[in-house]
Amino acid sequence: MADFRLPKNSRITKGKDHKADASARRVKKFKIYRYDPGSGENPRYDNFEIDLDDCGPMVLDALIKIKSEQDSSLTFRRSCREGICGSCSMNMDGRNGLACTTAIEDIKGDIRITPLPHMDVIKDLVPDFTHFYAQYSSIKPWLQTVSTTPSGKERLQSPQDREKLDGLYECILCACCSTSCPSYWWNSDKFLGPAILLQAYRWLADSRDEMTGERLDQLEDPFRLYRCHTIMNCANVCPKGLNPAKAIAEIKKMEAERAL
Ligand code: SF4
Ligand code: SF4
Ligand code: FES
Repeated sequence: MADFRLPKNSRITKGKDHKADASARRVKKFKIYRYDPGSGENPRYDNFEIDLDDCGPMVLDALIKIKSEQDSSLTFRRSCREGICGSCSMNMDGRNGLACTTAIEDIKGDIRITPLPHMDVIKDLVPDFTHFYAQYSSIKPWLQTVSTTPSGKERLQSPQDREKLDGLYECILCACCSTSCPSYWWNSDKFLGPAILLQAYRWLADSRDEMTGERLDQLEDPFRLYRCHTIMNCANVCPKGLNPAKAIAEIKKMEAERAL
């Protein structure tokens, strides 16, 4: 039988233990992935014990506490701390989510935290979004028009047409969905993945946009669009409650209807 092993420099080694104060009464252990590609050292898991009586309720509160009090070199992204910016996406106990909206008490036992899966790691919990953003740019995520409007006039939209953007415009580009999608793990070089396809549909569904045909031409490709096999991990994991799989199905429907 073939023996598949990670290359030597990818194997996870034993990390450091940071104990809570002896006076701590509600101790919780966080097992956190640490990796600095520039150091030449292998990745490791460090263990941090913290006292929940002296910590805010969210996983992000714990990470900030650890960084402030136990190891200032721990690296992660965050900004808004209220589920708006998408910066703090990571994998907590095997599930992608936002650290700022994930309650510590909702995860039983020790909490293992790793970067979003299947992305290159810049450092610790910070993945490299370069390719993800290039894919976002490729769908031209802005209003495109060919007609002109009288100078100073806005392009108006009826309330009914505006409603068609609900469930789409709320996407914060956190990539929780794309990095939980098996098709994206295997073909992210060519498959756009759920986040970017949901964004693509956001512009296809916009009554003011006049590039529908060009947008559909661009998406009609066995890899870019049709690698979605309706596995639904994306809808299951989205921290904003969106349904990228449904948006992808709508694009496929538009492609089928125009071929009739
Ligand atoms: S669809 Fe949801 S999970 Fe995916 S990038 Fe947007 S907000 Fe994040
Ligand atoms: S429904 Fe499509 S995009 Fe969503 S996880 Fe499944 S394969 Fe990926
Ligand atoms: S810090 Fe902005 S979404 Fe979590």
